[in-house]
Amino acid sequence: MAKKSLNLNLRKASTAKKDEFYTQLSDIENELRHYKDHFKNKVVFCNCDDPRVSNFFHYFSYNFEHLGLKKLITTCYKSQDMDLFSEQKSEKAIYLEYTGDKNGNKVPDPEEIGIQYLKSDGDFRSPESIELLKQADIVVTNPPFSLFREYVAQLVEYEKKFIIVGHQNAITYKEIFKLIKENKIWLGYGFKGGAGHFINKQYEDYATACDHREGMIRVSGVHWFTNLEINKRHEDLILFKNYISEAYPTYDNYDAINVDVTKEIPVDYKGAMGVPITFLDKYSPEQFEIIDGLNRYSILDGPTEETRGKYLAQVNGNPCYVRIVIKNRKL
Ligand SMILES: C[S@@+](CC[C@H](N)C(=O)[O-])C[C@H]1O[C@@H](n2cnc3c(N)ncnc32)[C@H](O)[C@@H]1O
Repeated sequence: MAKKSLNLNLRKASTAKKDEFYTQLSDIENELRHYKDHFKNKVVFCNCDDPRVSNFFHYFSYNFEHLGLKKLITTCYKSQDMDLFSEQKSEKAIYLEYTGDKNGNKVPDPEEIGIQYLKSDGDFRSPESIELLKQADIVVTNPPFSLFREYVAQLVEYEKKFIIVGHQNAITYKEIFKLIKENKIWLGYGFKGGAGHFINKQYEDYATACDHREGMIRVSGVHWFTNLEINKRHEDLILFKNYISEAYPTYDNYDAINVDVTKEIPVDYKGAMGVPITFLDKYSPEQFEIIDGLNRYSILDGPTEETRGKYLAQVNGNPCYVRIVIKNRKL
């Protein structure tokens, strides 16, 4: 094999491995309790989930009657690692449909959830998987982070409702940021302390001793992304600081003031304000309008004639981390 394609294959394998971690049932329960009303009579699709190991499948199959679901569809991608949870060795992609308890014991029995084989590899972009997506009302999963842009684009293209896990860095991807600005996607309730512990038996966890849990990796900056209505999204952030020019300097190359901490957004400032991306966790579209995102350039526009060579999120020559530019709608 040529060296170049070997390197590419190794890189792909390493990315695939990084995508192999599994969501805990407790984290799924913590988030989904806020969405219960959305599920009545709906078809739920988990399209990156091996039902033999996925807690998303576990959650929806065991809560099928409680949520009043119509159908649960789960597909899994071909196994990335033959040793994964060693009892279940299979390279084949599988899929199943569960339509609820038939024998009255309120438990999803094996004969009620027969596993079927997919013809293709179960890629969420495959025609087979897309046919299943078309049947779905709500997609719920933790998809591969390395394909997050494509994953969300497909959900938007097929006009699906979703609740999915992603990394907060995705907020700064142009395609995702645009959806956030247009109020087509927002953050859910999130993981405790802004970090998730995921089941992973393959690679080392670098969490500190007090945060280390056996068989798990700690991933900071993970969040839930959704387009389903939740109460949190309509709660105003309580603001208490007044604007004074010394405390809120303007950017060197962009017409907005810099706010380093979300809770210190001045209550009385009408103009554009740059805030950290963690602001999105508190964002209500009735209270604020999102204008743009800034790092070196505008997240939406990229470099332009005017901005090329300048750093936009910068105060007195010092670059800040990424900023979201907002305006208070209520002033
Ligand atoms: C972060 S893991 C989460 C697994 C599971 N959803 C969960 O939360 O426990 C992402 C999963 O997506 C699968 N995957 C990777 N590429 C995929 C693709 N193109 N189509 C469907 N699934 C894929 C991986 O094999 C991996 O199991």
